[in-house]
Amino acid sequence: MRLQSKICIVTGGGSGIGRAVCLLFGREGAKVMVADKDLHAAQEVASLAGSGAVAIAVDVANRDSVRAMIRKAVGEFGRIDVLVNNAGYSIKGNVVDTDEDDWNKLIAVNLNGVFYGCKYAIPAMRAQGGGVIVNTASVLATIGLRDLAAYCASKGAIVALTKAMAVDHAADHIRVNCIAPGNTDTPILDTMFAQSRNPAELRREMEQRNPMNRIGSPEEIAYGILYLACDESSFVTGSTLTVDGGWTAQ
Ligand SMILES: NC(=O)c1ccc[n+]([C@@H]2O[C@H](COP(=O)([O-])OP(=O)(O)OC[C@H]3O[C@@H](n4cnc5c(N)ncnc54)[C@H](O)[C@@H]3O)[C@@H](O)[C@H]2O)c1
Repeated sequence: MRLQSKICIVTGGGSGIGRAVCLLFGREGAKVMVADKDLHAAQEVASLAGSGAVAIAVDVANRDSVRAMIRKAVGEFGRIDVLVNNAGYSIKGNVVDTDEDDWNKLIAVNLNGVFYGCKYAIPAMRAQGGGVIVNTASVLATIGLRDLAAYCASKGAIVALTKAMAVDHAADHIRVNCIAPGNTDTPILDTMFAQSRNPAELRREMEQRNPMNRIGSPEEIAYGILYLACDESSFVTGSTLTVDGGWTAQ
């Protein structure tokens, strides 16, 4: 019960890593707000995420939508203890063949989404005496992988923004950290497989990227996020916790 009665918002909570976080937080006693652009998926997860879990439709790329989500959390629960900025997606391409509109759309979700979440949650956390933010980055924040230029850029910026916010808001008792997953078995990978000429070969390639020779599970990432969200990490801020089966240790 590491999050007993804590009010936790998880964006991208309707699928993959976010879904696993909502279910784990629910088991740890949290009241979870499952936030996703896919309301139906969010509702399904909320029905499984413990008593008091609620679903909300949000588009993290839209400032007003994120502001409304934060207002609803404060209005309904009176506070926000934990915000997990997790919604994100990837597109294929190097900088030359990445279309400008596709670049801007990805940055709007992956990076601006984190900015808006923090911008509107931090004043509420400050007013209540503190809080915790966990942002989902990626190992691709620090290493390049072919044909994922926009995605790598968005994730690198999340790590930098996390450090800046950790420094700015430590005095407000707000901790801000990142999780950096390696390849994790979620629908985001299914999309990559679907776009690939040889999905089985791509899966094998992903498995062989790390010395554990496998893809991680969403639950393995969720446990890292739980650590950063709960009081057991009370002296951790501005950090990136890598959960990648040893991929980036090589
Ligand atoms: N799966 C991996 O291998 C992996 C590795 C490193 C980092 N990540 C990161 O983990 C996070 C979660 O990814 P996942 O693998 O669980 O993917 P996923 O596709 O299973 O889940 C992403 C969720 O985010 C939601 N979402 C997308 N855009 C949104 C928006 N504008 N507003 C609100 N919700 C939105 C989707 O509806 C979906 O429910 C992402 O930030 C991703 O970049 C994933």
